[in-house]
Amino acid sequence: MIQIDVGFRYNRQACRPAPMDALYQNIKLVDVYDAINSSREDFDFYISELPETPATVLDIGCGTGTFALNLAGRGYEVTAVDPAPQMIVSAMQKDTGRSVNWVTGLVSDLADAPEFNAAIMTGHAFQCLLEDSQISLLFDAIKRRLHRGGSFWFETRNPAVRPWLRWTPEHTAPPYNLGGGRTVQVVHQVLSVNDDSVTFEERYDFNDDSETLISRSTLRFIALAEIEALAVKNGLLLADTFGNWKREPMSSDSPEIIVRLTKAT
Ligand SMILES: C[S@@+](CC[C@H](N)C(=O)[O-])C[C@H]1O[C@@H](n2cnc3c(N)ncnc32)[C@H](O)[C@@H]1O
Repeated sequence: MIQIDVGFRYNRQACRPAPMDALYQNIKLVDVYDAINSSREDFDFYISELPETPATVLDIGCGTGTFALNLAGRGYEVTAVDPAPQMIVSAMQKDTGRSVNWVTGLVSDLADAPEFNAAIMTGHAFQCLLEDSQISLLFDAIKRRLHRGGSFWFETRNPAVRPWLRWTPEHTAPPYNLGGGRTVQVVHQVLSVNDDSVTFEERYDFNDDSETLISRSTLRFIALAEIEALAVKNGLLLADTFGNWKREPMSSDSPEIIVRLTKAT
């Protein structure tokens, strides 16, 4: 068994990732990310909210690039950023037509000019931001890079339903098919819950060898009121919220907090 001790941690002063979560950094785990995350209602939702082409879109925390490539295929001019180098390498390998501008880093690393008609952060990537300072850095960077009238969309799991209560070995899903007879089973185990941060392990058991990989992560389950306060502090406004991908209003038992922010001025 190989344990990759990770936990996505930031240096609070510099707001820089260090060291990376193995899930986004270990080549074997990056390679299975798409197979494990193949059901994507979120993509359809966000695509339906985009302005018509031609338009510029920023994909934040793009991961393996599936969403960015989908948008580029629809005629959008796409820039995709992610601080995990291995995720960007994986995304670039798929982009044989060089249709996306890939950037390893944060939004604040991009040129400070209003370039984008829309910005989107899919796959609960927003929950990787553990500190208010990281969220402020992101919101401020978005405000500077969105065109007037542009929208920033993202989602975070609703803390009120405490989804981590189901992240237990008893709730393990059937093994994921990786093709060619290969499968991987993913077992979750919560290690600790501190305020709004949940630390958990994901254990990856592959059927084709004896290797087991363990990735440890921390995610933040922030409340909507805190998101709104940080948005306002950084020159953004809460424009819309939804509780699920069917566009139903948010309630205490909604699985998601889907948010649209716009520029305040
Ligand atoms: C669960 S993955 C989601 C990937 C992709 N958006 C998707 O929908 O499949 C979370 C991603 O967020 C990235 N990430 C972590 N911290 C980030 C930050 N501060 N800014 C942008 N992306 C970040 C990770 O490297 C990882 O690729």
